[in-house]
Amino acid sequence: MTASRGGLSVFLNAVVRRPAVIGALVPSSPLLARRLAAVVPGQGEPVVVELGPGTGPVTETISRRLGDRGRHLAIEVDTQLADHLARRFPRVEVVNADAARLDELLAERDIDRVDAVVGGLPWSLIPLSAQRAILRRSAESLGQHGVFTTFAYLHALPLGGARRFRALLEATFDEVMPTRVVWRNFPPALTYVCRRPRAGR
Ligand SMILES: C[S@@+](CC[C@H](N)C(=O)[O-])C[C@H]1O[C@@H](n2cnc3c(N)ncnc32)[C@H](O)[C@@H]1O
Repeated sequence: MTASRGGLSVFLNAVVRRPAVIGALVPSSPLLARRLAAVVPGQGEPVVVELGPGTGPVTETISRRLGDRGRHLAIEVDTQLADHLARRFPRVEVVNADAARLDELLAERDIDRVDAVVGGLPWSLIPLSAQRAILRRSAESLGQHGVFTTFAYLHALPLGGARRFRALLEATFDEVMPTRVVWRNFPPALTYVCRRPRAGR
């Protein structure tokens, strides 16, 4: 597990304060973070939006991949986590806001095209209408060229919440590719890589 720079204690503190918003017991492992960050283009000046960065295991991997290229927005609803992240990653544009406001947040920053959206949200704890809004706004920002990715815990896949979320992904994107399971994560997880938003939903 990633515990660098006091990240684990900051995360555990957030879990105790807001268990129904954090939705995990520990941050994602470096291996899961690498799997998620793999969708970030390795060349050019990409715009990357990260949803629910927490203490930043995925932020760190995306930042390393970007180097000094492009832009990296990290949208985190919890103020203490957002403050921690802003201190830890001065080059990342940390936004303390709800991911459901994605379209306004992008417009305020004059961003009209996003290359990759990397989702770290606890989807099953988010109401279905908000899940739909976040996915739709992500898809609109990506257009036909971009890519959306997020993760799901293996043990939860048979549950109604995970099945509804998968169905929503399929309703939003033409291509939804589950990847191999990352066993070196607690709990084990897989990622979905989604492309080509469907029109007008
Ligand atoms: C499961 S944790 C994942 C954190 C990190 N991405 C990781 O992989 O370790 C979910 C994160 O999403 C944040 N979050 C939950 N709902 C959110 C929302 N509506 N908008 C933005 N962030 C949200 C939580 O505060 C938490 O930091």
